[in-house]
Amino acid sequence: MCSAKLENLIDIKSLSTEEISAIADRALEIKCGAKPLSCKEKHAAMIFFENSTRTYFSFEMALNKLGASVYNFETSKSSLSKGEDFFDTVNNLAAIGFDACIIRTSEEGLIKRTIEENQNGRKFFKKIALINAGEGSSAHPTQALLDFVTIKEKFSDLNGLNLVIVGDIRHSRVVKSNIELLNRFGVKIKCVAPKYFMDETIENVEWCDNMDEAFENADIVMALRIQKERIQGIIEFEDYIKNYQITEENLPKNAILMHPGPVNRDIEVTSGLLDSKRGETILTQAHNGVFTRIAILEMIFQSQNGGANV
Ligand code: CP
Repeated sequence: MCSAKLENLIDIKSLSTEEISAIADRALEIKCGAKPLSCKEKHAAMIFFENSTRTYFSFEMALNKLGASVYNFETSKSSLSKGEDFFDTVNNLAAIGFDACIIRTSEEGLIKRTIEENQNGRKFFKKIALINAGEGSSAHPTQALLDFVTIKEKFSDLNGLNLVIVGDIRHSRVVKSNIELLNRFGVKIKCVAPKYFMDETIENVEWCDNMDEAFENADIVMALRIQKERIQGIIEFEDYIKNYQITEENLPKNAILMHPGPVNRDIEVTSGLLDSKRGETILTQAHNGVFTRIAILEMIFQSQNGGANV
């Protein structure tokens, strides 16, 4: 059982290495049959300003498995559309009786700012946890945690593993959270991308000029979605496919293939590879998302109860 104290989930940086390990161990314990805690007195609001399939439904599934109540906050029908301040919205949800808000937003820093407002002056009516379900291009901590669980399942020792990240690194929040997390566990990370998808402000990675160079000794290849909705201008798909598409032929023999999803079929990865045995890890990531999110929610709900069982 997770015993670490976790009040909110803002990003990977705000988690200790012990908390990360505790979440992963608990997720794998639940996957192996351990019963989730009963959290039937807990209520969570799903506040999604951006679309989602995996994150939204695996949080909803996790909350259902915990016996908690889950509510969809329809952002366009809420009083946010009348100009209500986001802190006030969360505070009113606390007053109504909510224990957690699971938030996906394109607004960088919204979750941290709201938590800081509560710590520095304005006060929430009662404890309410804010959980980042994907924020702008900067953080997607629960995706990084489920990716960590998936990697741990395949390779018990991560120290010295070689990970290659391919694709739209500039716009990816997944990549920033994954680099922050996997660096702590000794994973060596190489990045390869066309110039227009590079982000050389990212630290602790090695940039490669081409896929051949990047794929040498690779244990894990992580493809990223081209984030069309965040790109202005023309995307050079033909150039991308020719130089960066992952295929059955170029995926290194001993490497596993990961992708956070959704996949742009036949752009980032060929359909042949996706639908083959080697493409299955991508679905395992979605599957592990449920166990990982159960472990995170258990830890947060327990911490709200002063560490006692929910
Ligand atoms: N990986 C991920 O965040 O997928 P969704 O956008 O479908 O939630």
